Amino acid sequence: MSTAVRSRAVRRRWWWFLWSLLVVPAIGITAYFVTPYVSGSSTVPIDMSIPGYYVSLAVHAVPAGLALLIGPWQFVPRLRARFPRAHRMLGRVYLVSVVVAAAAATYSTVVTPSGFALQVAFAMLVVAWLYSAAQAYRTIRRGAVRLHRIWMIRNYALTFAAVTLRLYLLLGVQLMNVIPSLPYKDVYTASAWASLLGNVLVAEYFIIHRTTSPRHSGLGRVSKAACSRSRRPGARLGRRPRICGGRPQTCASHGLATQIRTRAL
Ligand code: HEM
Repeated sequence: MSTAVRSRAVRRRWWWFLWSLLVVPAIGITAYFVTPYVSGSSTVPIDMSIPGYYVSLAVHAVPAGLALLIGPWQFVPRLRARFPRAHRMLGRVYLVSVVVAAAAATYSTVVTPSGFALQVAFAMLVVAWLYSAAQAYRTIRRGAVRLHRIWMIRNYALTFAAVTLRLYLLLGVQLMNVIPSLPYKDVYTASAWASLLGNVLVAEYFIIHRTTSPRHSGLGRVSKAACSRSRRPGARLGRRPRICGGRPQTCASHGLATQIRTRAL
């Protein structure tokens, strides 16, 4: 087996490993925390004296769980290529679920008794969740596949905050055994902020790594002459500098990423 073939096989194994790190906890969290809402109960204690609190959590949790389950399958290139209609249909279900879940979460955020710092974290999550969903939709409607992918990575990273929040909570509760003066409210708030910031950072690292590294993004190398030609006034590239799905190529001399096609992928 050649080195190239072997390294491709290693990369593919890594990809499936990382993918299973999304799928397995997504299924586990949905099964444990979301399914009770379908039958009118919940895993965590809920203050029923707050009007509409339980209903907002149920209306939030069920579509949010659906989005959490759908997301990973949408990132599998082979499934996208073989079943494009299913990808489009599940994509719509995902986005509608996010909008419904975010609308209900807005009410939960306002009425939650868990404190102001937590409300700010959830409010930021709601705004970022809706904004990235809107951008993902807008970009695919105008055919910018690469940008759509980037916005969906951002959006799913926020959806996945439901998983990391609960993992941090689990760790925080263990920490409360070591530091008995640590209040649960602080652990909860810190976990919400950590899940929001941590997931955003991981997503941005992944996006930058995948879109700027020649090895991962498939960027080609352009000769110095081709690069200079493309930078002349009036050159096609000069007039269309937007990144809209084209594969940028890197000029070996200028070190610049240059857009050579306007629609690709
Ligand atoms: C990323 C955007 C999200 C935001 C802004 C958000 C916001 C919220 C808010 C404000 C609450 C009430 C918390 C409280 O009062 O203490 C809540 C609870 C809940 N959320 Fe989310 N959430 C998001 C994503 C998700 C996802 C993807 C799931 C899927 C599993 C989910 C499942 C739940 C569940 C099950 C509860 C009820 C508490 C429990 O039973 O654990 N959320 N969420």
